[in-house]
Amino acid sequence: MTTSKRIRIAIQKSGRLSKESQQLLKLCGVKFNVNEQRLIAHADNMPIDLLRVRDDDIPGLVMDGVVDLGIVGENVLEEEQLDREALGKAAEVNKLRQLDFGACRLSLAVPNEVEYNGPQSLAGMRLATSYPNLLRRYMNQQGIEYRDCMLKGSVEVAPRAGLADGICDLVSTGATLEANGLYETDVIFRSMACMIQSTQTQDPAQQALIEKLMSRINGVIRARE
Ligand code: PRP
Ligand code: ZN
Ligand code: MG
Repeated sequence: MTTSKRIRIAIQKSGRLSKESQQLLKLCGVKFNVNEQRLIAHADNMPIDLLRVRDDDIPGLVMDGVVDLGIVGENVLEEEQLDREALGKAAEVNKLRQLDFGACRLSLAVPNEVEYNGPQSLAGMRLATSYPNLLRRYMNQQGIEYRDCMLKGSVEVAPRAGLADGICDLVSTGATLEANGLYETDVIFRSMACMIQSTQTQDPAQQALIEKLMSRINGVIRARE
């Protein structure tokens, strides 16, 4: 392959944002077919490649300049930025705009039988989460001591499994909390999907294509407001 001017966009492979991410690009006139087995989907009518990855990997891929654009939840972006800042690693991205889907909140929740009278009720608890940095920031702001239990999935079952006293996880409809006998106590971060760009895009043709795509995205979002 010669030096390609194609741009790469990372989107979530499967999960809450994947359908709407693909749909948004299609509404912008990007023609592609996704093969479930494949990581990459090439657009036929524009020099754009879609990289289908885990959402948690998207901010890092954009920060490292491996891809040009990414569609990711602000929650995942913020967590990765805090993680990299703690490690003294480069964490810069250009947030081009918030999108109109993927609304959710990162919340603390405890079992129904646990009494809650404000954040101090969580003092000394062990909290299961996939978002240790956002959790730490909130608990430090509140001045509450806690312990954490890092889980990449099945966070909501941790209290019943005896792994934790409460959780810090994403809530969208609240169905997952309810199904697991938990209730929400503190909202610590509100999030939407967003489009982020690498700070390393140098090529003027690529930059022009990104601007064209963003103006189409603005149009699509405005039309459905
Ligand atoms: C989140 C969270 C819960 C669920 C809550 O996972 O971990 O499992 O959504 O949604 P609800 O309130 O509508 O029940 P999600 O799959 O969105 O995140 P992930 O793709 O990063 O695992
Ligand atoms: Zn995830
Ligand atoms: Mg999940």
